[in-house]
Amino acid sequence: MRRLVLANALAVGPFVLASGAWAGDPEKGRELANKHCIRCHVVGDDPFAGIDSTPSFRFLTKLSDYIERLQTFYRRAPHPVFVEVPGVPRRTEIPAFVAKITVTPETIEDIIAFVKTLEGK
Ligand code: HEC
Repeated sequence: MRRLVLANALAVGPFVLASGAWAGDPEKGRELANKHCIRCHVVGDDPFAGIDSTPSFRFLTKLSDYIERLQTFYRRAPHPVFVEVPGVPRRTEIPAFVAKITVTPETIEDIIAFVKTLEGK
């Protein structure tokens, strides 16, 4: 049910879900973050990952609304240029300046489950 709500919310735009237990798989989320997000973000222990203008995922967990930021990251600059969500219209036609990433509600749930493991670290 929650997955359906998330899928619907993705189709209409920014949304806020009640916090609670996430169905995401933190190990899958770690793999996804290390495959995609690490190109720009420090996602775990390696300080040489990422670029200076991005918040590290540990830093994100210090923000009270970080889960909402992750839920909506594909709509937040600079991601709309290179992140695609199947079924969700693109917000811009600007050509992607880096390799594209495709995310689904499941991908996002997995990444959130992984980032939650970084809380307090
Ligand atoms: C090509 C570089 C790039 C990649 C790849 C990338 N990001 Fe980002 N991300 C950024 C930049 C730059 C910012 C900072 C934007 C700003 O401060 O305006 C950012 C900020 C964020 C934020 C905070 C947004 C906000 O408004 O507070 C979240 C959440 C985020 N990224 C999630 C992700 C996730 C999850 C992935 C992998 C699936 C990812 N990003 C991949 C460049 C990237």
